[in-house]
Amino acid sequence: MNHKPRYAVFGNPIAHSKSPQIHQHFAGQEQAEIEYERILAEPDGFAAAAGRFFAAGGRGANVTVPFKTEAYDWVDEHSERAQTAGAVNTIIPLPDGRFRGDNTDGIGMVNDIVEAQGITATGKKILLIGAGGAVRGVLQPLLAEQPAEVVLSNRTAAKADALAAQFGVRVMAMADLPAHYFDIIINGTSGGLSGNVPAVAPAVFGACELAYDMVYGAAAEGFLNFARQAGAQCCSDGLGMLVGQAAAAYTLWRGFAPDIAATTRYMRENHA
Ligand code: ATR
Repeated sequence: MNHKPRYAVFGNPIAHSKSPQIHQHFAGQEQAEIEYERILAEPDGFAAAAGRFFAAGGRGANVTVPFKTEAYDWVDEHSERAQTAGAVNTIIPLPDGRFRGDNTDGIGMVNDIVEAQGITATGKKILLIGAGGAVRGVLQPLLAEQPAEVVLSNRTAAKADALAAQFGVRVMAMADLPAHYFDIIINGTSGGLSGNVPAVAPAVFGACELAYDMVYGAAAEGFLNFARQAGAQCCSDGLGMLVGQAAAAYTLWRGFAPDIAATTRYMRENHA
């Protein structure tokens, strides 16, 4: 009989997910043994798949694209940050049989920028490109760092307007960006996944301190190369964000705080 605690990540597609390797590395740090599997749910099958997993004794789950909103609806209660994001990436079973939904994406990104890259967001001018779920998830933790200003810019202006109204940040059309200086420029679009770089003029990157892409590996290369050539001083993909959101989930499930830098290094060297 297998007594290892079981965890899983739900998504569609899910075969590419690096979450199993990340969580197994955390378990190694804790000298614990866990099972962590990828579960492919049908587009309308998240609730059934999650129900089966927890009925069979699952101890915690991560949720990725496209099920973060379904997961939000499926759980019984929400953390404040899940509520603000309107999305759940971490499910925690409670002792009374109910389920709590949390969202660790934003804190994963902020910790990566502040701790791993050593760049403070406090007092900085930050440009966030995009206005989808990924950007919604990071706005609150980013604002908590008390930047001087957060500006949203999106291909479809109406989507940025709606998000900016909710979070009280400023919107700028991409064409207007070159007239402004930003310390930190974050690509929160999914453009890199299809090989596209958002239409932001090179001048915008002038001497920015950090250009950051929320996706990682090859999907981030187009944006980061563009930013580097345009003069960005420091460029980073979102691998540290991925590890950071996973670490926060792991801590919620197991009460153990993994060494994020060690696992990010391990992932870059072994599972790039
Ligand atoms: P996610 O959950 O990854 O944020 P999403 O909610 O579908 O996914 O949002 C995708 C974001 O990437 C949107 O801001 C989208 O811009 P639009 O609102 O104009 O659709 C942005 N995006 C995707 N492909 C893009 C591209 N090629 N250029 C610029 N922005 C792009």
